[in-house]
Amino acid sequence: MANPVPATAHASRDEIEKRMSGKDDQRGQRAASPADPVISIENVTHSFVANKRGGDPVKVVDDVSLGIQEGELVAVIGPSGCGKSTLLNMIAGLITPDVGTVRVRGQIVDGIDKRRKIGYMFARDGLLPWRTTLRNVAFGLELTMGQKAAAARAKELLEEVGLSGFEDAYRSQLSQGMRQRAALARTLSIEPTVLLLDEPFGALDAQTKVLIEERFMAIRERLGITTVFVTHDLMEAILLADRIVVMSARPTRVKAVVPLNRSRARSATASRFDEETGELYERLWEELRPEAVLGEMGGGVQ
Ligand SMILES: Nc1ncnc2c1ncn2[C@@H]1O[C@H](COP(=O)(O)OP(=O)(O)OP(=O)(O)O)[C@@H](O)[C@H]1O
Ligand SMILES: [Mg+2]
Repeated sequence: MANPVPATAHASRDEIEKRMSGKDDQRGQRAASPADPVISIENVTHSFVANKRGGDPVKVVDDVSLGIQEGELVAVIGPSGCGKSTLLNMIAGLITPDVGTVRVRGQIVDGIDKRRKIGYMFARDGLLPWRTTLRNVAFGLELTMGQKAAAARAKELLEEVGLSGFEDAYRSQLSQGMRQRAALARTLSIEPTVLLLDEPFGALDAQTKVLIEERFMAIRERLGITTVFVTHDLMEAILLADRIVVMSARPTRVKAVVPLNRSRARSATASRFDEETGELYERLWEELRPEAVLGEMGGGVQ
């Protein structure tokens, strides 16, 4: 896990000490009002040192500002290597931005804080091969409740993701789609109030993906969790999101924000073929294509 307070090229000693001492909180924390975004990314910039032997830092995220409202699902698309995961890591508190601030419910994110209840899920399932599916989902719960209560809750979650009957199966006995469903159940087990999803269905075949997307949407409709969803799949972004953010090639900036009509029917199959979806797809690809070409060449101009 990343050091919550990395000594980056752009953060001064004073700034780092202020963050560590919590004095920064006095300045930066404020009571969240209902109109405030749940996640607020404010003029965030971040660079990485390219290799362990040092060298010039490479700017990855460049002055990004974005607010995500309560219950909203924002899909983030952008070329490979532009900085999307870095952005999610900053919301999760795994990386501290060099410049700018990330807030979740008004609180400055500065390191990992379990009380924020951020669920984070990736393309790789991360299931522990020596634990059954049930005990994988119960893993986090066992820390806060008894083993029996954790198992009962895990069973309910497995039912919700459509994995009833596979409680005793090990990872090796599950298909890739089942593993991702188990991973989703595990992510939901902490009762997250914010979900960060980094290409969660990216490694699945097309049909399995449609099924898991439908299930995910039903769960999200019910729970209404504020979600940032990184994907390379434009169709997935159109079908799932309330708003789509197109990021530029590295160093990444917000290139376009495309709101979607929330009342649109969300049947993953029917919506794929309507005119509106076609137009949106074209518009998004128009924005994304030049960035993807730049990304292929190793990033944009710094
Ligand atoms: N810990 C790190 N140290 C050094 N460089 C890093 C680190 N993490 C990411 N990078 C670099 O930052 C850039 C952005 O990485 P990031 O993983 O955020 O991109 P991404 O948009 O998520 O890409 P993809 O779509 O392929 O997942 C890449 O050039 C990557 O090499
Ligand atoms: Mg990534």
